[in-house]
Amino acid sequence: MRQMILIGFLQAQNCTNHPSSWRHPDSRTDSWSADYYRHIGRVLEEGKFHLGFFDDRLSMPDMYGRNHAHTVAHGIRCVKLDAVTVLTVMGMATERLGLGATYSTSYFEPFHVARVFATLDLMTGGRAAWNVVTSLNDGEAQNMGRDEVLDHDLRYDRADEFMEIVLGHWDSWEDDAIVQDKASGVFARSEKVHRLDYRGRYFRSRGPFTVPRSAQGHPIVIQAGASGRGRRFGAQWGEVIFVAYPNLAVGRRDYAAFKSEVARCGRTPEHVHVTQLINTVAAATKAEAEDKWAEIDKLPLEIDALSLLSEALNFDFAKKGMDEPFTEQELNGMSGLQGIRDRVVAAKKNPTVRDFITISGRGRVHNPIVGGPKEVADQLEEWFAAPACDGFVLSATHVPGAYEDFVRSVTPELQRRGLFRQDYAGITLRENLGLALPAHGAWRHRHSPAG
Ligand SMILES: Cc1cc2nc3c(=O)[nH]c(=O)nc-3n(C[C@H](O)[C@H](O)[C@H](O)COP(=O)(O)O)c2cc1C
Repeated sequence: MRQMILIGFLQAQNCTNHPSSWRHPDSRTDSWSADYYRHIGRVLEEGKFHLGFFDDRLSMPDMYGRNHAHTVAHGIRCVKLDAVTVLTVMGMATERLGLGATYSTSYFEPFHVARVFATLDLMTGGRAAWNVVTSLNDGEAQNMGRDEVLDHDLRYDRADEFMEIVLGHWDSWEDDAIVQDKASGVFARSEKVHRLDYRGRYFRSRGPFTVPRSAQGHPIVIQAGASGRGRRFGAQWGEVIFVAYPNLAVGRRDYAAFKSEVARCGRTPEHVHVTQLINTVAAATKAEAEDKWAEIDKLPLEIDALSLLSEALNFDFAKKGMDEPFTEQELNGMSGLQGIRDRVVAAKKNPTVRDFITISGRGRVHNPIVGGPKEVADQLEEWFAAPACDGFVLSATHVPGAYEDFVRSVTPELQRRGLFRQDYAGITLRENLGLALPAHGAWRHRHSPAG
Protein backbone atom coordinates (compact mmCIF):
# COMPACT_ATOMS: atom_id res chain seq x y z
CA MET A 1 0.00 0.00 0.00
CA ARG A 2 1.22 3.51 -0.87
CA GLN A 3 2.26 5.38 2.29
CA MET A 4 2.55 9.09 2.88
CA ILE A 5 5.70 11.13 3.45
CA LEU A 6 5.89 13.52 6.40
CA ILE A 7 8.31 16.43 6.58
CA GLY A 8 8.75 19.04 9.32
CA PHE A 9 9.02 22.57 7.90
CA LEU A 10 11.65 24.16 10.17
CA GLN A 11 13.22 27.57 10.59
CA ALA A 12 16.55 28.28 12.22
CA GLN A 13 15.16 31.59 13.43
CA ASN A 14 13.37 33.31 16.29
CA CYS A 15 9.89 32.27 15.13
CA THR A 16 8.35 29.67 12.85
CA ASN A 17 7.41 30.88 9.38
CA HIS A 18 4.57 32.61 11.23
CA PRO A 19 6.21 35.69 12.77
CA SER A 20 3.67 35.82 15.59
CA SER A 21 4.62 32.35 16.83
CA TRP A 22 7.26 33.62 19.25
CA ARG A 23 4.49 35.39 21.20
CA HIS A 24 2.63 32.11 21.79
CA PRO A 25 2.68 31.37 25.54
CA ASP A 26 4.10 27.87 24.95
CA SER A 27 6.84 28.82 22.47
CA ARG A 28 10.36 28.15 23.61
CA THR A 29 12.44 31.29 23.92
CA ASP A 30 15.88 29.83 23.16
CA SER A 31 15.75 29.31 19.38
CA TRP A 32 19.45 30.17 19.13
CA SER A 33 20.47 27.31 21.43
CA ALA A 34 21.58 23.83 20.38
CA ASP A 35 19.12 22.23 22.78
CA TYR A 36 16.15 23.80 21.01
CA TYR A 37 17.09 22.02 17.75
CA ARG A 38 18.02 18.76 19.46
CA HIS A 39 14.56 18.73 21.01
CA ILE A 40 12.75 19.33 17.71
CA GLY A 41 14.84 16.61 16.05
CA ARG A 42 13.91 14.08 18.71
CA VAL A 43 10.20 14.93 18.52
CA LEU A 44 10.16 14.49 14.72
CA GLU A 45 12.08 11.23 14.96
CA GLU A 46 9.71 9.90 17.62
CA GLY A 47 6.93 10.63 15.11
CA LYS A 48 8.89 8.76 12.38
CA PHE A 49 9.03 11.86 10.19
CA HIS A 50 11.05 11.34 7.02
CA LEU A 51 12.74 14.68 7.17
CA GLY A 52 13.18 17.89 9.11
CA PHE A 53 13.99 20.66 6.67
CA PHE A 54 15.10 24.27 7.25
CA ASP A 55 14.10 27.04 4.91
CA ASP A 56 16.47 29.96 4.38
CA ARG A 57 16.64 33.56 3.39
CA LEU A 58 19.87 35.54 3.34
CA SER A 59 18.46 38.73 4.85
CA MET A 60 15.99 40.09 7.37
CA PRO A 61 12.61 41.12 5.96
CA ASP A 62 13.49 44.83 5.86
CA MET A 63 11.93 45.84 2.55
CA TYR A 64 8.89 47.46 4.27
CA GLY A 65 9.80 51.13 4.71
CA ARG A 66 13.35 50.12 3.73
CA ASN A 67 14.20 49.74 7.39
CA HIS A 68 14.83 46.89 9.78
CA ALA A 69 13.51 48.65 12.91
CA HIS A 70 10.03 47.08 12.73
CA THR A 71 11.52 43.67 11.89
CA VAL A 72 13.68 43.62 14.98
CA ALA A 73 11.12 45.25 17.28
CA HIS A 74 8.38 42.75 16.39
CA GLY A 75 10.62 39.71 15.91
CA ILE A 76 9.62 39.18 12.27
CA ARG A 77 12.13 36.49 11.30
CA CYS A 78 14.96 38.79 12.36
CA VAL A 79 17.23 36.02 13.69
CA LYS A 80 18.32 33.66 10.94
CA LEU A 81 21.05 31.09 11.63
CA ASP A 82 23.01 29.06 9.11
CA ALA A 83 20.85 26.00 8.59
CA VAL A 84 23.56 23.47 7.77
CA THR A 85 25.38 24.16 11.01
CA VAL A 86 22.12 23.76 12.90
CA LEU A 87 21.43 20.51 11.03
CA THR A 88 24.70 19.07 12.20
CA VAL A 89 23.53 19.57 15.79
CA MET A 90 20.18 17.98 14.99
CA GLY A 91 21.91 15.11 13.22
CA MET A 92 23.95 14.33 16.31
CA ALA A 93 20.77 14.08 18.40
CA THR A 94 18.95 11.72 16.00
CA GLU A 95 19.64 8.49 14.12
CA ARG A 96 17.08 8.10 11.37
CA LEU A 97 15.56 11.52 10.72
CA GLY A 98 16.45 13.01 7.34
CA LEU A 99 18.08 16.46 7.55
CA GLY A 100 17.41 19.09 4.89
CA ALA A 101 18.57 22.68 4.44
CA THR A 102 18.06 25.38 1.87
CA TYR A 103 20.99 26.88 -0.02
CA SER A 104 20.69 29.36 -2.86
CA THR A 105 22.10 28.84 -6.35
CA SER A 106 22.29 32.60 -6.82
CA TYR A 107 24.82 33.44 -4.11
CA PHE A 108 27.15 30.48 -3.62
CA GLU A 109 29.59 28.61 -5.81
CA PRO A 110 28.39 25.13 -6.85
CA PHE A 111 31.63 23.48 -5.70
CA HIS A 112 31.10 24.93 -2.22
CA VAL A 113 27.47 23.80 -1.99
CA ALA A 114 28.34 20.33 -3.30
CA ARG A 115 31.05 20.01 -0.65
CA VAL A 116 28.94 21.32 2.27
CA PHE A 117 26.07 18.90 1.60
CA ALA A 118 28.28 15.92 0.70
CA THR A 119 30.13 16.42 3.99
CA LEU A 120 26.87 16.71 5.92
CA ASP A 121 25.74 13.51 4.21
CA LEU A 122 28.84 11.64 5.43
CA MET A 123 28.61 13.07 8.94
CA THR A 124 24.98 11.95 9.28
CA GLY A 125 25.28 8.50 7.73
CA GLY A 126 23.45 9.40 4.51
CA ARG A 127 20.57 11.51 5.82
CA ALA A 128 21.20 14.87 4.11
CA ALA A 129 18.98 16.79 1.69
CA TRP A 130 19.44 20.09 -0.13
CA ASN A 131 16.50 22.37 -0.92
CA VAL A 132 17.55 24.18 -4.10
CA VAL A 133 16.28 27.76 -4.26
CA THR A 134 17.20 30.63 -6.54
CA SER A 135 16.38 33.42 -3.98
CA LEU A 136 13.97 36.23 -4.40
CA ASN A 137 14.63 39.69 -3.04
CA ASP A 138 17.03 42.61 -3.15
CA GLY A 139 17.88 42.36 0.56
CA GLU A 140 19.52 39.02 -0.09
CA ALA A 141 21.33 40.42 -3.14
CA GLN A 142 22.66 43.36 -1.13
CA ASN A 143 23.94 41.13 1.66
CA MET A 144 25.72 38.98 -0.89
CA GLY A 145 27.54 41.63 -2.91
CA ARG A 146 24.96 42.53 -5.58
CA ASP A 147 22.55 45.43 -5.99
CA GLU A 148 19.40 43.56 -6.88
CA VAL A 149 18.06 40.10 -7.40
CA LEU A 150 18.63 38.58 -10.87
CA ASP A 151 15.67 38.15 -13.24
CA HIS A 152 13.42 35.19 -12.49
CA ASP A 153 14.13 32.98 -15.51
CA LEU A 154 17.83 33.86 -15.59
CA ARG A 155 18.05 32.60 -11.99
CA TYR A 156 16.75 29.23 -13.16
CA ASP A 157 19.03 29.13 -16.23
CA ARG A 158 21.99 29.61 -13.91
CA ALA A 159 20.55 27.04 -11.52
CA ASP A 160 20.48 24.41 -14.31
CA GLU A 161 24.25 24.77 -14.72
CA PHE A 162 24.65 24.82 -10.96
CA MET A 163 22.92 21.42 -10.74
CA GLU A 164 25.12 19.92 -13.46
CA ILE A 165 28.18 20.90 -11.46
CA VAL A 166 26.86 19.75 -8.08
CA LEU A 167 25.62 16.39 -9.37
CA GLY A 168 28.73 16.02 -11.49
CA HIS A 169 30.97 16.52 -8.46
CA TRP A 170 28.83 14.18 -6.36
CA ASP A 171 29.62 11.50 -8.96
CA SER A 172 33.39 12.07 -8.89
CA TRP A 173 34.28 9.22 -6.58
CA GLU A 174 33.13 5.79 -7.67
CA ASP A 175 31.70 3.74 -4.82
CA ASP A 176 34.68 1.35 -4.71
CA ALA A 177 37.38 4.00 -5.23
CA ILE A 178 38.82 3.85 -1.71
CA VAL A 179 40.88 0.74 -0.88
CA GLN A 180 43.10 1.96 1.96
CA ASP A 181 45.55 -0.91 1.58
CA LYS A 182 48.18 -0.05 4.18
CA ALA A 183 50.46 -2.89 3.03
CA SER A 184 50.69 -1.79 -0.60
CA GLY A 185 50.33 1.88 0.21
CA VAL A 186 47.37 2.42 -2.14
CA PHE A 187 44.81 4.76 -0.61
CA ALA A 188 42.40 4.98 -3.54
CA ARG A 189 42.31 3.91 -7.19
CA SER A 190 43.11 7.00 -9.21
CA GLU A 191 41.15 5.71 -12.25
CA LYS A 192 38.00 5.75 -10.08
CA VAL A 193 38.18 9.42 -9.06
CA HIS A 194 37.16 11.69 -11.93
CA ARG A 195 37.65 15.33 -12.77
CA LEU A 196 34.58 17.27 -13.89
CA ASP A 197 36.14 19.99 -16.06
CA TYR A 198 32.89 21.93 -16.36
CA ARG A 199 32.78 25.15 -18.37
CA GLY A 200 29.33 26.59 -18.76
CA ARG A 201 27.90 29.96 -19.60
CA TYR A 202 27.60 31.06 -15.97
CA PHE A 203 29.80 28.70 -13.96
CA ARG A 204 33.09 26.88 -14.21
CA SER A 205 34.45 24.19 -11.95
CA ARG A 206 37.33 21.85 -12.55
CA GLY A 207 37.51 19.22 -9.80
CA PRO A 208 38.33 16.57 -8.84
CA PHE A 209 35.86 16.85 -6.01
CA THR A 210 37.27 16.23 -2.56
CA VAL A 211 34.43 14.34 -0.83
CA PRO A 212 33.73 10.62 -1.47
CA ARG A 213 30.17 9.34 -1.97
CA SER A 214 28.00 8.67 1.08
CA ALA A 215 25.89 5.68 2.08
CA GLN A 216 22.97 7.13 0.08
CA GLY A 217 25.12 8.00 -2.95
CA HIS A 218 24.47 11.70 -2.66
CA PRO A 219 22.13 14.05 -0.78
CA ILE A 220 18.46 14.13 -1.76
CA VAL A 221 17.56 17.12 -3.95
CA ILE A 222 14.46 19.10 -2.89
CA GLN A 223 12.81 21.81 -5.01
CA ALA A 224 9.77 24.06 -4.73
CA GLY A 225 9.48 25.99 -8.00
CA ALA A 226 5.87 27.09 -8.54
CA SER A 227 6.10 29.10 -11.79
CA GLY A 228 6.14 27.31 -15.15
CA ARG A 229 9.92 27.69 -15.32
CA GLY A 230 10.30 26.63 -11.68
CA ARG A 231 8.13 23.53 -12.13
CA ARG A 232 10.17 22.47 -15.17
CA PHE A 233 13.31 22.87 -13.12
CA GLY A 234 11.81 20.81 -10.28
CA ALA A 235 10.67 18.07 -12.67
CA GLN A 236 14.19 17.74 -14.03
CA TRP A 237 16.20 17.92 -10.82
CA GLY A 238 14.02 17.39 -7.74
CA GLU A 239 13.54 14.15 -5.81
CA VAL A 240 11.21 15.74 -3.26
CA ILE A 241 9.01 18.66 -4.32
CA PHE A 242 7.27 21.17 -2.03
CA VAL A 243 3.98 22.57 -3.23
CA ALA A 244 1.34 24.88 -1.79
CA TYR A 245 -1.73 23.99 -3.85
CA PRO A 246 -4.62 26.32 -2.90
CA ASN A 247 -7.33 23.63 -2.81
CA LEU A 248 -7.97 19.97 -3.52
CA ALA A 249 -9.33 20.41 -7.05
CA VAL A 250 -6.31 22.45 -8.15
CA GLY A 251 -4.05 20.06 -6.26
CA ARG A 252 -5.39 17.03 -8.10
CA ARG A 253 -4.98 18.76 -11.46
CA ASP A 254 -1.52 20.22 -10.82
CA TYR A 255 -0.19 17.06 -9.21
CA ALA A 256 -1.13 15.01 -12.30
CA ALA A 257 0.33 17.65 -14.62
CA PHE A 258 3.55 17.75 -12.65
CA LYS A 259 3.95 13.98 -12.69
CA SER A 260 3.52 14.08 -16.50
CA GLU A 261 6.24 16.70 -16.66
CA VAL A 262 8.53 14.40 -14.66
CA ALA A 263 7.85 11.60 -17.16
CA ARG A 264 8.66 13.98 -20.03
CA CYS A 265 12.10 14.45 -18.46
CA GLY A 266 12.70 10.72 -18.91
CA ARG A 267 12.19 10.07 -15.19
CA THR A 268 9.89 7.75 -13.23
CA PRO A 269 7.07 9.86 -11.71
CA GLU A 270 6.86 7.65 -8.58
CA HIS A 271 10.48 8.53 -7.84
CA VAL A 272 9.69 12.20 -7.36
CA HIS A 273 7.65 12.82 -4.21
CA VAL A 274 5.28 15.80 -4.17
CA THR A 275 4.56 17.13 -0.67
CA GLN A 276 1.88 19.70 0.16
CA LEU A 277 2.47 22.51 2.68
CA ILE A 278 0.01 22.32 5.60
CA ASN A 279 -0.65 23.97 8.94
CA THR A 280 -2.35 21.86 11.54
CA VAL A 281 -3.73 22.68 14.96
CA ALA A 282 -4.14 19.23 16.47
CA ALA A 283 -5.17 18.01 19.89
CA ALA A 284 -6.75 14.99 21.58
CA THR A 285 -10.25 16.28 20.74
CA LYS A 286 -11.80 18.68 18.25
CA ALA A 287 -12.97 21.02 21.03
CA GLU A 288 -9.49 21.22 22.51
CA ALA A 289 -8.01 21.95 19.08
CA GLU A 290 -10.52 24.75 18.54
CA ASP A 291 -9.52 26.36 21.83
CA LYS A 292 -5.88 26.16 20.79
CA TRP A 293 -6.68 27.75 17.45
CA ALA A 294 -8.55 30.62 19.10
CA GLU A 295 -5.41 31.42 21.06
CA ILE A 296 -3.10 31.19 18.01
CA ASP A 297 -5.38 33.27 15.80
CA LYS A 298 -5.16 36.23 18.22
CA LEU A 299 -1.40 36.58 17.84
CA PRO A 300 -0.64 38.05 14.37
CA LEU A 301 -0.22 41.81 13.91
CA GLU A 302 -0.86 43.83 10.76
CA ILE A 303 2.83 44.73 10.56
CA ASP A 304 3.69 41.00 10.27
CA ALA A 305 1.70 40.82 7.03
CA LEU A 306 3.02 44.13 5.65
CA SER A 307 6.60 43.16 6.31
CA LEU A 308 6.36 39.67 4.84
CA LEU A 309 4.41 40.82 1.79
CA SER A 310 7.06 43.46 1.08
CA GLU A 311 9.82 40.89 1.52
CA ALA A 312 8.23 38.16 -0.58
CA LEU A 313 7.12 40.44 -3.41
CA ASN A 314 10.28 42.54 -3.35
CA PHE A 315 8.11 45.68 -3.20
CA ASP A 316 7.87 48.30 -0.45
CA PHE A 317 4.22 48.23 0.73
CA ALA A 318 4.88 51.29 2.91
CA LYS A 319 4.76 53.37 -0.31
CA LYS A 320 0.98 52.85 -0.54
CA GLY A 321 -1.97 53.88 1.61
CA MET A 322 -3.95 51.02 3.09
CA ASP A 323 -6.95 51.51 0.76
CA GLU A 324 -5.17 52.84 -2.31
CA PRO A 325 -5.39 50.55 -5.36
CA PHE A 326 -2.16 49.38 -6.99
CA THR A 327 -1.45 50.46 -10.57
CA GLU A 328 -0.74 47.94 -13.33
CA GLN A 329 2.84 49.15 -13.41
CA GLU A 330 3.30 48.59 -9.68
CA LEU A 331 1.81 45.12 -9.91
CA ASN A 332 4.08 44.23 -12.82
CA GLY A 333 7.07 45.54 -10.87
CA MET A 334 6.66 42.95 -8.11
CA SER A 335 9.50 40.58 -8.81
CA GLY A 336 9.54 38.12 -5.90
CA LEU A 337 7.02 35.32 -5.29
CA GLN A 338 4.74 36.24 -8.16
CA GLY A 339 2.32 33.45 -7.26
CA ILE A 340 1.16 35.55 -4.28
CA ARG A 341 0.50 38.59 -6.48
CA ASP A 342 -1.28 36.49 -9.11
CA ARG A 343 -3.56 34.90 -6.51
CA VAL A 344 -4.53 38.33 -5.13
CA VAL A 345 -5.11 39.83 -8.59
CA ALA A 346 -7.23 36.83 -9.61
CA ALA A 347 -9.50 37.49 -6.61
CA LYS A 348 -9.58 41.32 -6.95
CA LYS A 349 -8.67 43.19 -10.11
CA ASN A 350 -7.25 46.39 -8.62
CA PRO A 351 -6.17 45.30 -5.17
CA THR A 352 -5.26 47.63 -2.33
CA VAL A 353 -2.73 46.94 0.42
CA ARG A 354 -5.61 45.78 2.61
CA ASP A 355 -6.71 43.33 -0.14
CA PHE A 356 -3.19 41.93 -0.29
CA ILE A 357 -3.24 41.33 3.47
CA THR A 358 -6.69 39.73 3.49
CA ILE A 359 -6.48 37.64 0.33
CA SER A 360 -2.89 36.41 0.66
CA GLY A 361 -3.19 35.52 4.34
CA ARG A 362 0.54 36.28 4.62
CA GLY A 363 1.69 36.78 8.19
CA ARG A 364 -1.17 34.67 9.51
CA VAL A 365 -1.66 30.92 9.80
CA HIS A 366 -3.40 30.34 6.51
CA ASN A 367 -6.15 27.71 6.15
CA PRO A 368 -5.16 25.57 9.12
CA ILE A 369 -6.53 22.08 9.58
CA VAL A 370 -7.97 22.29 13.09
CA GLY A 371 -9.17 19.17 14.86
CA GLY A 372 -8.70 16.00 16.82
CA PRO A 373 -6.95 12.95 15.31
CA LYS A 374 -9.95 12.03 13.18
CA GLU A 375 -10.56 15.45 11.61
CA VAL A 376 -6.91 16.06 10.76
CA ALA A 377 -6.30 12.52 9.46
CA ASP A 378 -9.49 12.69 7.35
CA GLN A 379 -8.23 15.76 5.50
CA LEU A 380 -4.75 14.38 4.97
CA GLU A 381 -6.19 11.12 3.72
CA GLU A 382 -8.47 12.93 1.28
CA TRP A 383 -5.55 14.80 -0.30
CA PHE A 384 -3.30 11.75 -0.32
CA ALA A 385 -5.91 9.41 -1.79
CA ALA A 386 -7.11 11.89 -4.47
CA PRO A 387 -4.14 11.87 -5.27
CA ALA A 388 -3.15 15.51 -4.90
CA CYS A 389 0.19 14.80 -3.18
CA ASP A 390 2.48 12.05 -1.87
CA GLY A 391 2.78 13.53 1.59
CA PHE A 392 2.94 16.74 3.62
CA VAL A 393 5.31 19.47 4.78
CA LEU A 394 4.09 20.44 8.22
CA SER A 395 4.53 24.07 9.16
CA ALA A 396 4.34 24.91 12.88
CA THR A 397 2.05 27.43 14.56
CA HIS A 398 4.53 27.41 17.47
CA VAL A 399 7.53 25.34 18.50
CA PRO A 400 7.85 22.73 19.81
CA GLY A 401 4.10 22.41 20.63
CA ALA A 402 2.77 22.11 17.08
CA TYR A 403 5.09 19.19 16.25
CA GLU A 404 4.46 17.52 19.61
CA ASP A 405 0.68 17.78 19.16
CA PHE A 406 0.88 16.29 15.67
CA VAL A 407 3.12 13.42 16.74
CA ARG A 408 0.99 12.64 19.77
CA SER A 409 -2.44 12.82 18.20
CA VAL A 410 -2.26 12.59 14.40
CA THR A 411 0.63 10.20 13.69
CA PRO A 412 -0.94 7.25 15.58
CA GLU A 413 -4.22 7.76 13.71
CA LEU A 414 -2.44 7.81 10.33
CA GLN A 415 -0.58 4.64 11.33
CA ARG A 416 -3.81 2.97 12.46
CA ARG A 417 -5.28 3.67 9.01
CA GLY A 418 -2.20 2.17 7.32
CA LEU A 419 -1.44 5.55 5.68
CA PHE A 420 1.84 6.06 7.48
CA ARG A 421 4.59 3.61 8.37
CA GLN A 422 5.12 2.19 11.87
CA ASP A 423 8.89 2.59 11.72
CA TYR A 424 11.80 3.72 9.58
CA ALA A 425 12.55 1.38 6.67
CA GLY A 426 16.31 1.92 6.85
CA ILE A 427 19.03 4.29 7.92
CA THR A 428 19.58 6.61 4.99
CA LEU A 429 17.04 9.19 3.91
CA ARG A 430 16.99 7.63 0.44
CA GLU A 431 16.02 4.23 1.88
CA ASN A 432 13.33 5.84 3.99
CA LEU A 433 11.92 7.66 0.97
CA GLY A 434 11.87 4.38 -0.99
CA LEU A 435 14.35 5.72 -3.56
CA ALA A 436 17.10 3.58 -5.10
CA LEU A 437 20.79 4.37 -4.77
CA PRO A 438 21.52 6.66 -7.73
CA ALA A 439 23.78 5.05 -10.32
CA HIS A 440 26.79 7.15 -11.29
CA GLY A 441 25.83 9.66 -13.95
CA ALA A 442 22.17 8.48 -14.11
CA TRP A 443 21.02 12.11 -13.85
CA ARG A 444 22.70 12.85 -17.20
CA HIS A 445 20.02 10.82 -18.97
CA ARG A 446 17.33 13.22 -17.81
CA HIS A 447 16.45 16.14 -19.99
CA SER A 448 14.53 19.36 -19.57
CA PRO A 449 10.81 18.88 -20.32
CA ALA A 450 11.04 21.95 -22.54
CA GLY A 451 13.89 20.56 -24.62
C1 LIG B 1 7.46 24.58 1.47
C2 LIG B 1 8.23 25.62 0.71
C3 LIG B 1 9.46 26.03 1.20
C4 LIG B 1 10.21 27.00 0.54
N1 LIG B 1 11.39 27.40 1.07
C5 LIG B 1 12.09 28.42 0.50
C6 LIG B 1 13.28 28.91 1.10
O1 LIG B 1 13.72 28.41 2.12
N2 LIG B 1 13.90 29.95 0.51
C7 LIG B 1 13.47 30.53 -0.64
O2 LIG B 1 14.08 31.47 -1.14
N3 LIG B 1 12.34 30.07 -1.25
C8 LIG B 1 11.65 29.04 -0.69
N4 LIG B 1 10.48 28.60 -1.27
C9 LIG B 1 10.05 29.24 -2.54
C10 LIG B 1 10.34 28.37 -3.76
O3 LIG B 1 11.68 27.97 -3.85
C11 LIG B 1 9.95 29.08 -5.07
O4 LIG B 1 10.80 30.17 -5.32
C12 LIG B 1 8.54 29.58 -5.02
O5 LIG B 1 7.66 28.49 -4.81
C13 LIG B 1 8.15 30.36 -6.30
O6 LIG B 1 8.35 29.60 -7.44
P1 LIG B 1 9.24 30.14 -8.64
O7 LIG B 1 10.65 30.26 -8.11
O8 LIG B 1 9.13 29.06 -9.70
O9 LIG B 1 8.69 31.45 -9.07
C14 LIG B 1 9.71 27.60 -0.65
C15 LIG B 1 8.47 27.18 -1.14
C16 LIG B 1 7.72 26.21 -0.49
C17 LIG B 1 6.38 25.80 -1.04
